[in-house]
Amino acid sequence: MKKNILLLPGDGIGHEISKEAEKIFNWLDKNTNLEFEISKELIGGASIDEYGEPITNKVLNLAKKSDAILLGAVGGPKWEKLDFIKRPERGLLKIRKELDLFANFRPAIVFDALVSASSLKEEIISDLDIMIIRELTSGIYFGEPRGIEKISENIKKGFNTLVYHSDEIERIATVGFEIAMKRNKKLCSIDKANVLESTELWRDVVNDVSKKFPEIHLTHMYVDNAAMQLVRNPKQFDVIVTTNMFGDILSDCASMLTGSLGMLPSASLGEFNTGKKIRKAMYEPVHGSAPDIAGKNLANPLAMIQSIGMMLEYSFSSLDLNNLLKSCINNILNNGYRTEDIFSNSNEKKLGTSEMGDMLVKELEAS
Ligand code: IPM
Ligand code: MN
Repeated sequence: MKKNILLLPGDGIGHEISKEAEKIFNWLDKNTNLEFEISKELIGGASIDEYGEPITNKVLNLAKKSDAILLGAVGGPKWEKLDFIKRPERGLLKIRKELDLFANFRPAIVFDALVSASSLKEEIISDLDIMIIRELTSGIYFGEPRGIEKISENIKKGFNTLVYHSDEIERIATVGFEIAMKRNKKLCSIDKANVLESTELWRDVVNDVSKKFPEIHLTHMYVDNAAMQLVRNPKQFDVIVTTNMFGDILSDCASMLTGSLGMLPSASLGEFNTGKKIRKAMYEPVHGSAPDIAGKNLANPLAMIQSIGMMLEYSFSSLDLNNLLKSCINNILNNGYRTEDIFSNSNEKKLGTSEMGDMLVKELEAS
């Protein structure tokens, strides 16, 4: 049966990397038993320009009906001055919330060929393989009350609410433990329980859930220490589970351990339907819309392509195809091909966005 994919290129380099994604879907269509029906729609600034809002109900409904969503990136200086509610980012946050995509998987993996692209020493990051699981539909991103209010003639107040309910913590913690079971049976939960009650509750609930997973070695860490430890000795981590905002910050930090933000994919998953092995899912690169390089054929499409890899594994049970994509990427890097962001010396061969996509198709053909 055909898989319905909603492709949302978004803004900036989102367009260029989406074109490369389509090349991969074409290859998969022709060469595997999976078939894809791709619908392309607007989100973010592109949707604001066309319809005056960052996501339309039509697109939201398509998102709800699709088998999986692939998103490029949203945002850019053109829309930064808009009211908060109309900004490109709101489109992304709305999909996450309305589809209840609460579990965000952000792997940070170092490809051998790229050890020297990291700003950290080789021995600190070689073979690094961390999975950050970020809670994505609650916490300070969505807590009420929120806003900016004038409280006197000269003073305004800006405020947000960091709130977690125990059932929200329980479900993301459970995902963390389940993934840890499939990996090295180590889980680190990151909070700020020494200062914030909402994350004191986080720690208590994670401890409760741990009783169901006696095999897992669970540790807790405060977020400030975790940021430091990620840079000092990242290999002490295997699976990390954390709140929405801490996960946002720590995943950017972890991404730079791997050399480039341009290499990292992500998956945002909802609950499984009862009785069925189906869950809503959106896949997107961790990087942003990079307006400074947009339209110049400089963007690295590999995070987007690895996001397709995660889609194949998580939504369509094709772990083999994800592995195939990863090994093709590995070969390309080992052969010295680089996009601008991961180029480090003159022995390497520089490729543009579309050439990198073509190279990957060529590698798939040869596989
Ligand atoms: C991310 C991004 C988003 C976030 C923005 C664009 C809303 O930084 O996916 O990490 O903060 O979650
Ligand atoms: Mn972010």
